[in-house]
Amino acid sequence: MALNHTPGAADVPELDVPTIRKKFPILDQQMNGHRLVYVDSASSSQKPASVIDAMSRYYETTHANVHRGVYAIAEEATRLYEQARTKVARFIGAPSPNGVIFTKNVTEAINLVAYSWGRANLQAGDAILLTEMEHHANLVPWLILAQERGVELRYLPVTDDYQLDLTDLDRLVDGVKLVSVTAMSNVLGTLTPLDRLVDAAHAAGALILVDGAQYVPHLPTDVQALDVDFFGFTGHKMLGPTGIGVLWAREELLEAMPAFLGGGEMIRDVRLDGWTPNDLPWKFEAGTPPIAEAVGLAVAVDELTALGMDAVRAHEVSLTGYALRTLTERFGDDLAIHGPSEPSQRGGVVSMQLGDIHAHDVSQVLDQHGVCVRAGHHCAKPLMRRLGVNATARASFYVYNDTDDVDALADALAATRDFFAV
Ligand SMILES: Cc1ncc(COP(=O)(O)O)c(C=O)c1O
Repeated sequence: MALNHTPGAADVPELDVPTIRKKFPILDQQMNGHRLVYVDSASSSQKPASVIDAMSRYYETTHANVHRGVYAIAEEATRLYEQARTKVARFIGAPSPNGVIFTKNVTEAINLVAYSWGRANLQAGDAILLTEMEHHANLVPWLILAQERGVELRYLPVTDDYQLDLTDLDRLVDGVKLVSVTAMSNVLGTLTPLDRLVDAAHAAGALILVDGAQYVPHLPTDVQALDVDFFGFTGHKMLGPTGIGVLWAREELLEAMPAFLGGGEMIRDVRLDGWTPNDLPWKFEAGTPPIAEAVGLAVAVDELTALGMDAVRAHEVSLTGYALRTLTERFGDDLAIHGPSEPSQRGGVVSMQLGDIHAHDVSQVLDQHGVCVRAGHHCAKPLMRRLGVNATARASFYVYNDTDDVDALADALAATRDFFAV
């Protein structure tokens, strides 16, 4: 199954960025005397008024706990919460909402798999295949498990041109029980060859977990076409609120997995000498869930659906291409860009090193020009070590960014270069 990373530009409408931008109240402000230029969406996206309003409206008119009360607003809260699940399921091509578990974020989604499936299925001598370009969210849960159980962790390396090195894939995947990979690097923008990895995992008799945190907000997603087993993502990077993420998994896996967190909601019955689990998906949703956040996420999904994910992807390919060209032309060798050079093979994150100026200093001067970028190790310390840097300044684009934002970024970088006299 080939992945369509590059929808034909002719087939999809262009995003009307000035109109989109008006939907985001936060963007309508000055910062340090400049128009606010937000190019840090890989860290967290901004929220349209529709999401903010839906959450306020929910609290103002409908809030009650879900799956409990039998009065009108409690039933409406439950309906909205479950409707959010249905919308999310449709958005990612899931066969049914029952495989959609709401979590706090993708970090919790991956931990759910590590604690529940991992501890029920892995023991000393078993192996998991990861990659060198994982976010800590898809490393530390497995490092904890490795420490606790003696599970072996293997890693697909990253090449000097920022791709996953699949040369030794057959050897590395042989005998593993799980392959767990990001769909897109949050540092490099590299898109993972998921089709190759899914095929290799399944041929080896392993399951595959995909961290879709940087994928779902930016590309059309179909978990059935991807043929993955576990798929996690996070609401706040896709126009939704913080505090909500998703684990989707094949239902037969979820049915067989032991509970993760215990408490209310996740039980069918409790006695003093035992308990029985609830049906899916509630078996994995202990305690009062993120109700308002689910309401907000549903509206975020509506917004992205209305834009069209093919159009979102085409916009980002085009804008990233413009950014790579502009930055290369203006800065040449003064600016190292860590990531693939072909826009159609990557996402819209651009990790930069400006001369020998520390990324935090770059970010602070950019802030003086109203430009927000992320500086640091991006929660991917092993990858930073592989790149031989301890930090980069990372710009990342989304539906509300356009070439003016890229130009503002480039102007602010030029001012930074002058300031530090590189
Ligand atoms: C690839 C990737 N995975 C996981 C995460 C963690 O997301 P969260 O903090 O929402 O759990 C991020 C966030 O930056 C990410 O980029």
